[in-house]
Amino acid sequence: MVNTIEWTPEGVVMIDQRVLPGEETFITCKNYEEVADAIRTMVIRGAPAIGCAAAMGVAIGALQASDENFDAEMETICSTLAGTRPTAVNLFWAIDRMQRLIAAKKAEGASLSEIREALTAEAEQVLAEDIEINKAMGRHGATLLPQGATVMTHCNAGALATGGYGTALGVIRAAVESGNPVAVLANETRPFLQGARLTVWELQQDEIPVTLLTDNMAGHVMKAGKVGAVVVGADRIAANGDVANKIGTYSVAVLAKENGVPFYVAAPISTLDLTLESGDLIPIEERAADEVTHLAGKAVAPVGTTVMNPAFDVTPNRYVTAIITEKGVARPPFVESLKALAKS
Ligand code: MRU
Repeated sequence: MVNTIEWTPEGVVMIDQRVLPGEETFITCKNYEEVADAIRTMVIRGAPAIGCAAAMGVAIGALQASDENFDAEMETICSTLAGTRPTAVNLFWAIDRMQRLIAAKKAEGASLSEIREALTAEAEQVLAEDIEINKAMGRHGATLLPQGATVMTHCNAGALATGGYGTALGVIRAAVESGNPVAVLANETRPFLQGARLTVWELQQDEIPVTLLTDNMAGHVMKAGKVGAVVVGADRIAANGDVANKIGTYSVAVLAKENGVPFYVAAPISTLDLTLESGDLIPIEERAADEVTHLAGKAVAPVGTTVMNPAFDVTPNRYVTAIITEKGVARPPFVESLKALAKS
């Protein structure tokens, strides 16, 4: 399993997901600005991985903040990191966790060097916990997959999108580890091609059978009875169970319902945003036009083409069969089941 992100004495090391699968290049972020840039430019992506990166960004920022202006500099560090990407709530969850630690340490009368040390330890803890959470989620989710099922997934919700193991791909990994020989259908996920470039690469490393589809093939393949279940990740889940995930997820969910295929969402509790009543309130990131007009640097549309590039969509809860978390599986009505899981 690849190391998506690591805290090292030289800085925060990340595999550059923009150039996979062609190149396996690692980037070392030596300060919080470089971590923020890495999140913004998709060196690292995927909701839980962004959370881990943000926690490490706060920690590296604290090591470099001056004693004289520590509080003001930490404010700038946190707001810069929070301004990188708007949709995945894990980013804000991680920054908030680090800020709460600073406040708690201050209340205890800790020195700045003790606070810096605690922040480094906490960032490493966020990463270690994420891997354990994914394994627990995998164990819960694996029981839902029929023996030998072909499972469709969209985007990359794997080790690369998390601290390790993955959410949706964690469910698939856990099924395989438990002796269920599932196979995967990976939707390519235009425009950034997380499915083609990352999911296929990651599953091949683990020798899990995977077949690549373009996004517009999903309905045809489901109608032909070739899909036993869909499992995807999430960037933010509202209190009513509406799910924001990579653009195209909504179409897959509607097609799944139409074709009687169960549609599962695997996400940690940190992806729940119970402050939002419904998915209509989730901010959707709009990314640059050239992600749509160009493929691998080559224009695939005329110069001057008007483009829409929402990076995420929201799947209404009525299309979601169940939400798999590290604490168990939530089923409709999600308003009650998610609240109960979050409290447990
Ligand atoms: O734009 P990205 O690549 O960060 O979007 C990632 C996704 O939408 C994933 O499906 C989601 O973050 C879940 S990752 C475990």
